[in-house]
Parts: sequence; structure tokens; C-alpha cells
Amino acid sequence: MKGVILAGGTGSRLHPLTRITNKHLLPIYDRPMISYAIEVLVGAGVREIMLVTGGTHAGEFLRLLGSGDEYGIERLSYAYQDKAGGIAEALGLAEKFVGDDRCVVLLADNVFERSVRHCVDAFVKQDRGARVVLTHEPDREHLRHLGVAQFDGNQRIERIVEKPEKPPSEFAVTGIYFYDASVWKVLPELKPSGRGELEITDVNNWYLSQGLMEYDVLDGFWGDAGESIDAYYAVNDFVRTHLANKAR
Ligand code: G1P
Repeated sequence: MKGVILAGGTGSRLHPLTRITNKHLLPIYDRPMISYAIEVLVGAGVREIMLVTGGTHAGEFLRLLGSGDEYGIERLSYAYQDKAGGIAEALGLAEKFVGDDRCVVLLADNVFERSVRHCVDAFVKQDRGARVVLTHEPDREHLRHLGVAQFDGNQRIERIVEKPEKPPSEFAVTGIYFYDASVWKVLPELKPSGRGELEITDVNNWYLSQGLMEYDVLDGFWGDAGESIDAYYAVNDFVRTHLANKAR
């Protein structure tokens, strides 16, 4: 399985910090944010990775990560995103890298307390389709800033609602996604959302409409450090006290 780390975007929710650097280079406790994302994948046994980024600070990722060898990566490729067009647009740049293989896609501002190796293993066993990873989030206001799962009576996800005014459940969709090769047929069909971006939620809803989506529910802390300056500091505080990416 190939890994795709998405580390582009304008980071507008963290302005003005992100006027002078890429969001994923900001520190989380004692390391740049991107190193936690690398650790998530390597810790789950994914060692062929493409990093997608853009903007004027893209070169800093090379300076930090180089060949990736020091981080336990076997093959590290880079893709440059000319303009920030959303998560699904950025993913499109990894098509040739992933080829006929399956992929795990990770938003580089997501920080996990515990290893996600069991999710990778579950996707390896899955016949085909896609997989998302949910987290229990009882705070309704927080759910309004995330993708939220809507369930049918049998604990199956019916659809995912992006940034819902009325959250349909207490389960948010985290920024780690697993796809088979049909994802490359879905991406060109997407239309920009209200915020002018190609949304990963639309990709996930396509798989749901085909009955090809499974899910896991995380235990332990999860945070999106790019969501707001308060979320950024909440993630920092958590990692400083409890560390991240711990083996189970
Ligand atoms: C994105 C996804 C959202 C998901 C979140 C997790 O939101 O669109 O569904 O819950 O990542 O970090 P964004 O950070 O682009 O607002």
C-alpha cells in the first residue's frame, strides 16, 4: 500500500502564522507538524510515500525530510501543487505514484495519540472499496467544523455531511482515508463545493453510494491542528503531555 501525505493549502485558518511558512512546518511540541504525519504512516508499516505540497515554502520539506531515510521511509516522492484547490485536487497529483496499488491518504495536520496500524491491516483484508476512520466527538460546535457520519439503523454509514449545521451523529471523520484504484475515476467527476474546493467528502460519499465503504472508530486522542489557532494549541498541549503515535 502506498501512502500519500497532503501538506498543501493556504492554512488560512492559521493566518498570519501561515503567511510566513507552510502550516505543516509549524511546531507541534518539539518537531515540525509534518514529522508526526510521516510517523503515522511509517509506524503503520507504510514506507513508500508521496508528499504533496505547494506554495513558496515547498523547498523546506526537502530540507527537513531529504530522502526520508532517517524517518524509516523506503521511497519518498514529492509532488508540487500549483494552486490550492482542495484535498481531492491534491490527491489527483499522486495518481501515477500510486498506480494500480491501493493507498492511504493522510492530511498532514491530523495528529493521533495511538498507532493506526490496525486500520491499515483491516484495509489490507478488505476486498475492495474505501475505508474511513471515525472519532467520537460529543462537542456539537466542534462537529460543525468537520465531516460527520450519518448512520442507518444497522450501524452502517449512509453518508458523510461536511461541516453540518445540524450534526447527524457524534462521529467525526478524521483525515486518514483508504482507497482502492477506483478513486482515480471518481476524482475527475467532482465539482467544486461552496468553498471552491474539490472535497474529499464527495469522494467518500461516492464510495458510500456504491456500498463500498467500511470504517473504524479510533480510541485515544485525535486532533486537527490546522482547524483553528485554539485547536493548534490544544494539539500542542496534548502532545507535550502525552506524546503521539504510541504503539497500542
Ligand atoms: C477536512 C475534511 C473533513 C475532516 C477534516 C479532518 O476538513 O473535509 O471532512 O473531518 O479534514 O481533519 P478541512 O480541514 O479541509 O476543513
